Amino acid sequence: MSILIKNGTVVTASDTYTADVMVEDDKIIAIGSNLGKKAGKVIDAKGKLVLPGGIDPHVHLDMPFMGTSSSDDYTTGTRAALFGGTTTVIDFILQTQGDTLYNALGKWQKKAQNKAIGDYSYHMAVTDFNDEVQKEVISMIETEGITSFKTFMAYKGALMIDDGQMIKLMNTVRKHGGIVTVHATNGDMIDALIALHRSQGNRSPLYHYLSQPEITESEASARFCDMLHHTGCIGYIVHMTCEGALNAVRRATQRNQKVYVETCTQYLVLDASVYKLDFEGAKWVMSPPLREKKDQNALWSGINQGLIQVVGTDHCPFTWEQKKMGMNDFSKIPNGHPGIEHRMELLYSEGVVKGKISLPKFVEITSTQPAKIFGMFPRKGSLAIGSDADIVIFDPVKEHTLSAKTHHMRTDYSAYEGWKITGKTETVILRGKIAIHKNECLLSPGYGQFIPRKKIKSII
Ligand code: URP
Ligand code: ZN
Ligand code: ZN
Repeated sequence: MSILIKNGTVVTASDTYTADVMVEDDKIIAIGSNLGKKAGKVIDAKGKLVLPGGIDPHVHLDMPFMGTSSSDDYTTGTRAALFGGTTTVIDFILQTQGDTLYNALGKWQKKAQNKAIGDYSYHMAVTDFNDEVQKEVISMIETEGITSFKTFMAYKGALMIDDGQMIKLMNTVRKHGGIVTVHATNGDMIDALIALHRSQGNRSPLYHYLSQPEITESEASARFCDMLHHTGCIGYIVHMTCEGALNAVRRATQRNQKVYVETCTQYLVLDASVYKLDFEGAKWVMSPPLREKKDQNALWSGINQGLIQVVGTDHCPFTWEQKKMGMNDFSKIPNGHPGIEHRMELLYSEGVVKGKISLPKFVEITSTQPAKIFGMFPRKGSLAIGSDADIVIFDPVKEHTLSAKTHHMRTDYSAYEGWKITGKTETVILRGKIAIHKNECLLSPGYGQFIPRKKIKSII
């Protein structure tokens, strides 16, 4: 099947120009002016943006967490992603402490196979590092196409590893061409603050926020950078929220170190004032929590300075019923929020339309950089001849309102209820097949493919 996209404004991480894009089977085969070739389907994209499919490198689908499971599975999660212009996601496999990485991989393969609609890959979260796990890490990189290893410096007793394990993991990953990613917050400090607030009878969502002050994130981010420097490993800090943590990375650059940084949509556009809303604040209970306006400014600047390369979502949705598990105790509210569907449209509306980032920067942080950093480029993350035909046709002026009534994520509330935004995903093509058109998903569960990833090279 061939598709010809005519007269659109093609946007890449470096250029914006008018062109036609020709797709044959699952690949882009030509980009140019007035491509006269005949095609099975012709799409008129005049007045529309033609973008590479979004890549969200931070999602949690069907993940067991805090006594429950995130509410989107591979079908509902990747479908919601497609509705928002994200064609590939990278999900996190969680090793159970005391168990093997291969057992965890098997569980996640079952969650995804025959269920994913959009493409997906895996990060492997190493929650228990020992000699046996070390061998499995090597095998993940060499034979499974899983080249990124997630670590947690918090969630002690469930997911956290200590600094000794971290350094051993970094040494192994460096030798074999992988990357270590991190949830960088000081778990012991946070646990002590949680215990203090609870002992004083303070149980509302506001105390989730007050248990994770900025210093808990800046300290851990600096420590992670130091451990990377010591081991020579390539690293990536996920969901960075604040100025202090960004400054830790800025300081690392002064010794010629490169540390990749991801922030998430919510940290750019929402702030901590929501935690004053009594239990309704539970909708935004996530870790790290939302921060202040000054942090939003620092993050937008960090994107433009090239210190932050990627914007993901940390999509970890729960229903309101699940959130109510923490009605009388903030420490029992499942951490996470629904965001997979709105990343591209919110970043376009709040970033491009409001003049905070350019169009090529928008493509860079939502698609090209995640593909490069995580070893999927140029198959993914690019509009180029030979790349997968993952293409978003985006209406740059269409106004619409975000709501739980119309979103496709499996949650009964929206973190952005009533937000009026400009710019809408209109048509999405995934590996040459029309996935989204006229507000309908045309692909079925099982279409989504696992994308094995290459070894990581420092790209700067
Ligand atoms: O609150 C969050 N972020 N939940 C998902 C797990 C994590 O820490 O990324
Ligand atoms: Zn995290
Ligand atoms: Zn996460």
